[in-house]
Amino acid sequence: MTEDDIPAVLDMERLACPHPAHAWSEDNYRSSLRSGYWTRVRTHLGTGQIIGVCVAMDGVDEMHLLNIAVDKDWHGTGLARGLLGALYASCRQAGVPLLWLEVRPSNERALAVYRRQGFVEVGVRKGYYPAPGGREDALVMRLDLKAAQA
Ligand SMILES: CC(C)(COP(=O)(O)OP(=O)(O)OC[C@H]1O[C@@H](n2cnc3c(N)ncnc32)[C@H](O)[C@@H]1OP(=O)(O)O)[C@@H](O)C(=O)NCCC(=O)NCCS
Repeated sequence: MTEDDIPAVLDMERLACPHPAHAWSEDNYRSSLRSGYWTRVRTHLGTGQIIGVCVAMDGVDEMHLLNIAVDKDWHGTGLARGLLGALYASCRQAGVPLLWLEVRPSNERALAVYRRQGFVEVGVRKGYYPAPGGREDALVMRLDLKAAQA
């Protein structure tokens, strides 16, 4: 992903999210690129249109999935699985054994994808996310890449 991709990524993600207010901001993407985080976009081979994005932050012996979004017209076609597969490959190449993420309990589609991929719930961060009329908890999930087949 490059800075030039940001406008198209923002448009794609706002339409993909069940609640556009939950989508990442331009600043989120700019600071991820500046920080050298693991970032990937998936483009449509025919049109060159951006149809997926994934961002992860590396730490010591672990990686943290910060964001993943797929064009709404491509939901359920395996693009998230593909982006996550690329992330697992990078983790394994770097010898990183654990992948972490936070997800809203209300985001059933994302939860289903993560569970299907072998992530397990290991905790709750109370009031982690802003939500209409207050805050929403985050489920903390972890994937052990040494054990997982994904
Ligand atoms: C969450 C999201 C990235 C999933 O993308 P996707 O491309 O539709 O997911 P995939 O098609 O790769 O699905 C991966 C697996 O989960 C399954 N799955 C997908 N959607 C599902 C659903 N609603 N219920 C149950 N299983 C589902 C798929 O069947 C697939 O299983 P398989 O690998 O065994 O075939 C997408 O819905 C999205 O962009 N949502 C908005 C942004 C968002 O909420 N991001 C997460 C922030 S934490």
